[in-house]
Amino acid sequence: MPNSLHRLSYLSVATLKPLSLIGLAELLAISQRNNDRDGLTGALAVSKSQYFGVVEGPRDNLFSLVARLQRDRRHRDIHILELGPASARIFGRWSLVADLIEPSLVVSLADLMIPDALAVETRLAMLEGLTGSLRQVPGMR
Ligand SMILES: Cc1cc2nc3c(=O)[nH]c(=O)nc-3n(C[C@H](O)[C@H](O)[C@H](O)COP(=O)(O)O)c2cc1C
Repeated sequence: MPNSLHRLSYLSVATLKPLSLIGLAELLAISQRNNDRDGLTGALAVSKSQYFGVVEGPRDNLFSLVARLQRDRRHRDIHILELGPASARIFGRWSLVADLIEPSLVVSLADLMIPDALAVETRLAMLEGLTGSLRQVPGMR
């Protein structure tokens, strides 16, 4: 089914050095606009030069995003943790919420960024916990 709900979880390494807030804001603005258009929702955690991203939505739109992500030179070494059918959205409120992981969280969340360190379900639950504690910002959903 081309429109059945699918989810992508991935890790990647940022190539913007140092990771610039302006660069990140631009990336988020475009992503949120596209995701609204494409019925995609998700979250992106950034720590040092690593991304942990989750995006969910209709399969075909998600697969075209995967192709765009793979061409995007703002990151490299994309490590797909999961790409497949999902039973429900986790980040349904967000076109793409982003969280810069604070230094105080880095130690406990370092594992979030290491391939194979955690089961994908554990990783998703941690990111859900992080974004759940964020206040909703006007203009985001
Ligand atoms: C870490 C990372 C996460 C991204 N997440 C998304 C996303 O959720 N949705 C999206 O449309 N583009 C996302 N992008 C941007 C895409 O790679 C691509 O540049 C963009 O979709 C192209 O949009 P345009 O064709 O409107 O210029 C992301 C890029 C990076 C580096």
